[in-house]
Amino acid sequence: MDKEQARKKIEKLRKQLNEHNYKYYVLDEPEISDFEFDKLMKELESLEKQYPDLAAPDSPTQRVGGEITKKFNTVKHKYPMLSLGNTYSMEELTEFDTRIRKTIGTDFSYACELKFDGVAIGLVYKKGRLSQAVTRGDGTKGDEVTTNVRTIKSIPLRIYASNLPDEFELRAEIIMPHKSFIRLNEEKQKNNESLFANPRNAASGSLKLQDSALVAKRNLDCYVYGILGKDLPFESHFENLAKAREWGFKVSDLTTRCNNINDVMDYIEKIEKKRTSLPYDIDGVVIKVNSYAQQEQLGYTSKFPRWAISYKYKAEQGITRLLDVAYQVGRTGAVTPVAILEPVLVAGTTVKRASLYNADKMEELGLHYADTVHIEKGGEIIPKIVEVKKDLRSPDAKKIQFASHCPECKTKLVRNDGEAVHYCPNSDGCPPQIQGKIEHFISRRAMDIEGLGEGRIEVMIKNKLITNIADLYELKYDQLLGLEKIVTDEITGKQKKISFREKTVNNILNAIEKSKEVSFERVLYALGIRYLGETGAKKLARHFGGLKQIKESSFDDLLAVPEIGERIAGSIKDFFDDERNIEIVKRLEKSGLQFEIEKIPETSKSEQPLKGKSFVVSGVFERYSRSQIKELIELKGGKNISSLSSKTDYLLAGDKMGPEKKRKAVEFNIPIISEDDFELMITT
Ligand code: IVH
Repeated sequence: MDKEQARKKIEKLRKQLNEHNYKYYVLDEPEISDFEFDKLMKELESLEKQYPDLAAPDSPTQRVGGEITKKFNTVKHKYPMLSLGNTYSMEELTEFDTRIRKTIGTDFSYACELKFDGVAIGLVYKKGRLSQAVTRGDGTKGDEVTTNVRTIKSIPLRIYASNLPDEFELRAEIIMPHKSFIRLNEEKQKNNESLFANPRNAASGSLKLQDSALVAKRNLDCYVYGILGKDLPFESHFENLAKAREWGFKVSDLTTRCNNINDVMDYIEKIEKKRTSLPYDIDGVVIKVNSYAQQEQLGYTSKFPRWAISYKYKAEQGITRLLDVAYQVGRTGAVTPVAILEPVLVAGTTVKRASLYNADKMEELGLHYADTVHIEKGGEIIPKIVEVKKDLRSPDAKKIQFASHCPECKTKLVRNDGEAVHYCPNSDGCPPQIQGKIEHFISRRAMDIEGLGEGRIEVMIKNKLITNIADLYELKYDQLLGLEKIVTDEITGKQKKISFREKTVNNILNAIEKSKEVSFERVLYALGIRYLGETGAKKLARHFGGLKQIKESSFDDLLAVPEIGERIAGSIKDFFDDERNIEIVKRLEKSGLQFEIEKIPETSKSEQPLKGKSFVVSGVFERYSRSQIKELIELKGGKNISSLSSKTDYLLAGDKMGPEKKRKAVEFNIPIISEDDFELMITT
């Protein structure tokens, strides 16, 4: 393929990927499978690597992030980012309408929208491409977070529509949907990190992360609620929003136009009913005069537009009594306090529990037994205590102290300096922690042992058949057959019988046996070394080749591996300093698990597809360590060269290749090939 052909192909792939991205993330109507999507993406990635000067910041390949922002630049907004006047009552809303009619008469309409509870963002598009994304800041100046915003899949990086204004700015809200929020906090709890109090804080924290690759994993979403600029297609707000929807932006379907204030009130009621079933938080609705000319006529106060107002829903509140504080022990030993309340009906559901987050939050509230508490089901998913009625407290009420011992195994709790979380240090004796480790070990991305759901593991732990991951490989058919137990689902309260019949036992034992083929990098991840995620495990496995080498490496050796920082390196050292872990690893090795990366297959000397070709190898690779790649090059007849010159045939580029190498390759016109390209070269 020559460069011109590559350019065309790249352009075609980008268009296709953008289209599919839009169908998946904006319309929620995917047309192709994830597998097919990934295939197109890989093809584009490979071409962009081969022709780095054809790379572009608005390519779909940039969505995965990777760029680090050390400090976010402060940028002046072209149009100030205003806030809105609030009201909580229909009377005030009627007054707003009266004021408007006094100025512009009766011939007008309102646009009604959701008031998204997230982070405001200004998205500047120039010639159809996203050029800048800036947070609200003080309204005049904000932080430039473009790199992070590019990773949000529902924001088009490029618009293909015709008759697009040359430059325009969208106003939108970046939100974290409930699903992503719950997943993120579960992950944080697993890592003993403090939790985000609500999706808004989580969205705002995510936008300010320095590593855009992490932002990409946060599953943020974005709803557009405004458009500014010259030469806009229409003279009114609602119609322009509809146009933005056609251009590929996410504009809520619940946005509507109303001809009078009564219709607005109906809208407010309709949305209030819908509110709890929305997959994200809103805290009200926004009502705007639709015509721009009329907006201008109405003008602004010193702070707000006179043509818009937000109607905020009252948080749903209730008063009840605090009965006790319970403590949940997470899978990593993190202990979370939960308020046990006298059941109270709030907005249609019975509330029996409220989150207390951690010891600091509990201390702030100063809870005493039998306190009367004000609870609120606001933006947050789980109700919280907002106020303690101290005046109603009996004088001899006892203050509630944070638990000193683990409610599950009675071990004394510890709390590290500077951390908000208490945890139970009995990691291999505390049942939920044992269960957590085993669940992690067998999970799909780790050892992928099917047939062992949570309930079954619980039964096996209760029957003392397993206390750690190594025990799984020593289980016998007779031990499992006939086990049974009635378990109660914690959430639904439903009871179900778990029994181990012949077929189940065989399936379990076969799945355990099959897991012995799982690659070393996944075994390493499955061990459950604190903070070591999938990517870190992969990088370590490729770098060192086997567990023995990792075990014997120093803290500094570990730090030299990409993705491994001090926290992970320290945790790996701690893991191997613990005799109990060494013992478990030994038993797993004896059982036949993979503790080395797969050896490269021997090839016959006559197969020399790389004969006469010289290679410079740079960066980190997915499937091989750098030394393995070099070995392969020689095995296949090629030559390894340490630095690029005009005589080099190929630059074999992995992840995190230095920019200088890339620049030189472009200068000398040396093809940059990926690991995939390289594999093709040696196999065809
Ligand atoms: S319009 C001049 N519309 O609420 C009008 N804002 O208090 C400016 N917000 O910072 C804002 N949903 O982050 C508007 N449909 C919506 C909104 C909305 C959420 C947020 C926005 C802004 C704040 C205004």
